[in-house]
Amino acid sequence: MKIIGFNGSNRKNGNTSKLLESVLKGSASLGAEIKLINLYDLNFKGCYSCFNCKKRDGEKYGRCSIHDDLEPIFKDIENADGIVLASPVYYRSVSGEMKSFLERLLFPYVTYTTPPVSLFPKRIKIGFVYTMNNTEHEMRENGIDKNLSVFEMVAQWAFGPVDKLYCFDTFQFNDYSKVVADRFDPVKKAKQRDEIFPTDCKKAYDMGIRLTQS
Ligand SMILES: Cc1cc2nc3c(=O)[nH]c(=O)nc-3n(C[C@H](O)[C@H](O)[C@H](O)COP(=O)(O)O)c2cc1C
Repeated sequence: MKIIGFNGSNRKNGNTSKLLESVLKGSASLGAEIKLINLYDLNFKGCYSCFNCKKRDGEKYGRCSIHDDLEPIFKDIENADGIVLASPVYYRSVSGEMKSFLERLLFPYVTYTTPPVSLFPKRIKIGFVYTMNNTEHEMRENGIDKNLSVFEMVAQWAFGPVDKLYCFDTFQFNDYSKVVADRFDPVKKAKQRDEIFPTDCKKAYDMGIRLTQS
């Protein structure tokens, strides 16, 4: 059993990183081989729209033809049993790094046919983890869940069943008095960090277990 986690946040000690680590710990608790990849450490861009992955009888049909840091990672994913895609919400969607990664990851595997068919060689489980400043109510009011569901839908077509976890009202700054951010109540934020976030980490850990179970 092999589970690979992708971190779409640059903050290696931030909310997204901690939740992703919890997912992977959950998977490791059942003996899975785990790997964490920080997208911000890699050199890559989003989809070039070259369509090499769609060319009839093409050498690269169903595969991304770009040679960069993602090339070995896509090969590795073909040997995985599950992947976790963790991202902060930026402007009501995933972070730019995660979006570029998802463009490259998903587009080659899903055919432009009706209905779409997956060219990925097997079915694997997918976990999405999202962290955001918004509350659950604000997330739905702002349509963030709808925006994110686009990636979930395509990931389900390409790979298999999707599991997801939202983490709301996250603690963003180590010291709220040092930033201009009057919109946020530091006491409420600290309470979220101390009381709610540990529960979210437990939920993430449980997702890791689910991803590993057959
Ligand atoms: C560029 C940028 C855009 C953001 N946009 C949103 C947003 O649209 N909605 C939201 O709820 N939070 C937004 N946030 C807040 C982050 O999603 C939130 O703080 C997240 O938990 C940060 O994750 P991290 O601790 O892993 O960096 C934004 C943060 C940044 C830096």
